[in-house]
Amino acid sequence: MTMYRIAVIPGDGIGPEVVAQGVRVLKRIAELDSRVRFAFDTFPWGCDYYQQYGHMMPADGLDQLRLYDAIYLGAIGHPSVPDNISLRDLLLRIRQGFDQYVNLRPVKLLPGIRGPLSGKTPADIDMLFVRENVEGEYAGLGGRLGSGADEVAIQTGLFTRKRLNRLFHYAFRLAQSQGKTLTSITKSNALNYSMVLWDEEFRAVSASYPEVRTTSLLVDAAALFMIRNPERFQVVVGSNLFADILTDLGAGLQGGLGLAAAANLNPDRTAPSMFEPVHGSAPDIAGKGIANPIAAMWTAQMMLDHLGLHEWADRLLASIKRVVERRDVLTPDLGGSATTEAMGTAVMNELSLSAQVAG
Ligand code: NAD
Ligand code: IPM
Ligand code: MN
Repeated sequence: MTMYRIAVIPGDGIGPEVVAQGVRVLKRIAELDSRVRFAFDTFPWGCDYYQQYGHMMPADGLDQLRLYDAIYLGAIGHPSVPDNISLRDLLLRIRQGFDQYVNLRPVKLLPGIRGPLSGKTPADIDMLFVRENVEGEYAGLGGRLGSGADEVAIQTGLFTRKRLNRLFHYAFRLAQSQGKTLTSITKSNALNYSMVLWDEEFRAVSASYPEVRTTSLLVDAAALFMIRNPERFQVVVGSNLFADILTDLGAGLQGGLGLAAAANLNPDRTAPSMFEPVHGSAPDIAGKGIANPIAAMWTAQMMLDHLGLHEWADRLLASIKRVVERRDVLTPDLGGSATTEAMGTAVMNELSLSAQVAG
């Protein structure tokens, strides 16, 4: 029997609503499989916590999280706290502090989901984004000077050759292991320092993977091609900001943010990885019990994979696919009228069934 210790940060808005469904599913797995145990500890960090204590998490927050096997996070952000405080002091502090340098984001159209692109099938929309996750445009470097009309703001990107090197090796290994192509997202026509280094290092690393077919696309053109020819994209590697934007576009292609999963990975396992869906706290629907839990459940699926529980990860993804394909229990964002909990239950039932079948 293996015990996995999971730190749960439900966060704000719909975060707690969707995370509850992911936790339910993990608990069900432990019921179905005597070899697996999860111990959950919940951390009440977020915007309410900020209102009470004046910070998003305690000063020793990272030390508290360090001993866990994984972190499962819902979403952060509430209109009562400026986003640049809430997100930087919690989310980005964990991603950067734990060197979670890969943000893995699948963009897959599931069978049964009606995406916005007519004529495009699940075979056409099947991408895996590798987003740089600890530096780049999110390095937090810069400042503001002066005041009034003369005030200036500087925000500098930070790109380090050795960090690009490990990111690209990760992306190439992924593409290689899956027999996929790799697209690098650049903007070296305008960003004449950072993105030129990006391109150079990408080319240098590509020499070690002669069997991986590569393309380099300018980010603006990539945005167009993702809509016109999504089938061009398989594994995609992009900087922190570019891939942030393109993965929301990708979420659109796969049927909405309610379906977009993500994992902040520390591939070297020197600190815990963190699993959080692409979407935010969705204040417009929070508290109504109608948020789509699939993104959070799929995110829990990525956590299972990371923990080495591949069989359960496969079963969970298959269960999610069956539920959305059947189309009888869908939340409003997918055109149905089911609640968050009902959709969670539907996935759990499928999972239990798949375990029975497997015996
Ligand atoms: P958002 O992702 O919260 O919402 C965008 C739109 O998508 C909204 O209409 C929302 O209702 C819908 N949506 C999102 N998730 C959904 C789900 N699971 N089911 C159904 N519909 C869903 O983005 P936003 O409105 O730009 O940001 C809201 C707050 O969240 C801000 O404070 C922002 O900074 C924060 N944010 C946090 C994270 C994170 O914690 N990982 C990510 C993105 C945004
Ligand atoms: C995401 C979010 C975050 C990001 C924000 C909330 C800081 O948009 O996880 O995609 O930009 O990384
Ligand atoms: Mn984003």
